[in-house]
Amino acid sequence: MGFEFSGKTAVVTGGANGIGHACARALALGGASVWILDLERENPVKAAEEIGARAAIADVTDRNTIEAALDQSGPPDILVANAGTVVFHELGNTTRAHWDRVISVNLTGMFETVQAVAARMKPRRRGSIVLTASTNSFDGEAALIAYNASKAGVLGILHTAANELGPYGVRVNAVCPGLIRTRLTSAAFDDAAVLKDYFRQIPLGRGGEPAEVANAVAFLASDLATYITGAALLVDGGQLACKFGTWNERDASFHQDHWELK
Ligand SMILES: NC(=O)c1ccc[n+]([C@@H]2O[C@H](COP(=O)([O-])OP(=O)(O)OC[C@H]3O[C@@H](n4cnc5c(N)ncnc54)[C@H](O)[C@@H]3O)[C@@H](O)[C@H]2O)c1
Repeated sequence: MGFEFSGKTAVVTGGANGIGHACARALALGGASVWILDLERENPVKAAEEIGARAAIADVTDRNTIEAALDQSGPPDILVANAGTVVFHELGNTTRAHWDRVISVNLTGMFETVQAVAARMKPRRRGSIVLTASTNSFDGEAALIAYNASKAGVLGILHTAANELGPYGVRVNAVCPGLIRTRLTSAAFDDAAVLKDYFRQIPLGRGGEPAEVANAVAFLASDLATYITGAALLVDGGQLACKFGTWNERDASFHQDHWELK
């Protein structure tokens, strides 16, 4: 798919892996000058080299590192605020340390990133910000209380930033991925029995690939979306549209990682 980002500077947090890396690749393919911001241990320099991008070491929980990275990249035209993490614990077993870790990256880190970038976009009266939220912004998947709270909170950032930045020509949107094949979800993707049950609830009968999220991000970031702001775009194969499940053995069979009609 062809998007046009020539002459634009794009910054992608959490761009060394998974969905972020696919977004960085899509933006670079469209001609953007892309900067990957990520933790040093994730080797963002190597990840950037693979796609003709540049890298800056940044931890979204540390504002100074975000500011330093943005000074390196110059004021971005596009921000993909995507860095995220997850811990799996039920409510009763979630410690304050678990909670703080997830909230500090997914929610506070998102706030710090958006605030720092907005300050650079506002004077230029243009910009497009895309946040990585989740289907978990809307549901209560078990053992993910901190993650679900963080991703619900991202919608608060989305709506408020879209409202406040619209007058400055800065659009703010979000993608809400369902189950996407990355290292964050490898335990599920490695287990066909888990996938079979999980994908019963997905009208398209399968999980998503990072590039499929990246296409949605590229669209929202692009000039094809000039009248879209404050939107949360589900990229979930229809999962949240499907209240009681889609697939059953009577009409369909499961093949390795997807359902197919008989
Ligand atoms: N994979 C899914 O099914 C799925 C579904 C919905 C939403 N998401 C969201 O998509 C985003 C990307 O996740 P992914 O699945 O690609 O996982 P991933 O682990 O492959 O990528 C996450 C990236 O964020 C970076 N990161 C983590 N903490 C950071 C910090 N403090 N500062 C800077 N970078 C940091 C990681 O180093 C990594 O490169 C996350 O926000 C995640 O919550 C993922």
